Amino acid sequence: MPSEELDVSHSPKQDAGFHVAIIMDGNGRWARRRGRPRYEGHRAGAHAVRRVVETAPSLGVGTLTLYAFSADNWRRPVHEVQQLMWLFQRHLRSERTRCVREGVRVNVIGRRDRLPPALLQEIDSIESRTRLGRTLHLRLAIDYSSRDALLAAAAHLDRRSVRTREGFRLLIDRVTHAPRGTRDVDLLVRTGGEKRLSDFLLWESAYAEIVFTQRLWPDFSAEDLASAITDFRGRERRFGGLPAADVSEPRTPSRLAEGGR
Ligand code: IPE
Ligand code: IPE
Ligand code: MG
Repeated sequence: MPSEELDVSHSPKQDAGFHVAIIMDGNGRWARRRGRPRYEGHRAGAHAVRRVVETAPSLGVGTLTLYAFSADNWRRPVHEVQQLMWLFQRHLRSERTRCVREGVRVNVIGRRDRLPPALLQEIDSIESRTRLGRTLHLRLAIDYSSRDALLAAAAHLDRRSVRTREGFRLLIDRVTHAPRGTRDVDLLVRTGGEKRLSDFLLWESAYAEIVFTQRLWPDFSAEDLASAITDFRGRERRFGGLPAADVSEPRTPSRLAEGGR
């Protein structure tokens, strides 16, 4: 059987603006500090989502990926999981018109086979109605595991002639239902004070700048996003090279080869 080709000859169009990804953590602690059930923290977290989505484009963000539910979050009590699924469903429905109006293109990344049918219906609906949005590309990670995505992408390698990082990235996008052409993560923010990645965008964040903040997600404000981005803009990204000030001539691989002869 001929090998199945994955077309990587045309580089997919990249979203304009940079890519910010956020691990939205701290909802439970926010509620506990108020003596309230965890659910109220998740509900308050949904308001924070709206705030960052509204603010992001004016700060130069073209793509925003929000970690809403990890594949490991299924380990939580059934009641909390059900409340979260219901909240996602309600949020997608209530934000749909606003997203169309504001030009926000919404995609959900992760697995689809374990989500409740009513949520799947809302996902289909918001993805199709917002597909022409150009102000912001909003990606919500639900039932998402980066390691599972890498495994699933690797399982396709035999059948497809993929030899490059770019090609492998397209496989990852395919298995996570992500549209093609999303740039790597430029800035990764985690709220809630923990300093870990919790299986989020491991491949896509290879050279991401990282900001950890103590702020609990429901308290995360437009100012907090602006301050993380100011921090990011002040950093020098080297991608393995040298600081700009130390480079007198470009060191490309072909020059190195010439020099080595
Ligand atoms: C993040 O908040 C939301 C989800 C993981 C769904 P948490 O629910 O993890 O809040 P903490 O970490 O317990 O405070
Ligand atoms: C990461 O938060 C997942 C989301 C924010 C959706 P968790 O609260 O699940 O992560 P751990 O368990 O502290 O690593
Ligand atoms: Mg947590």
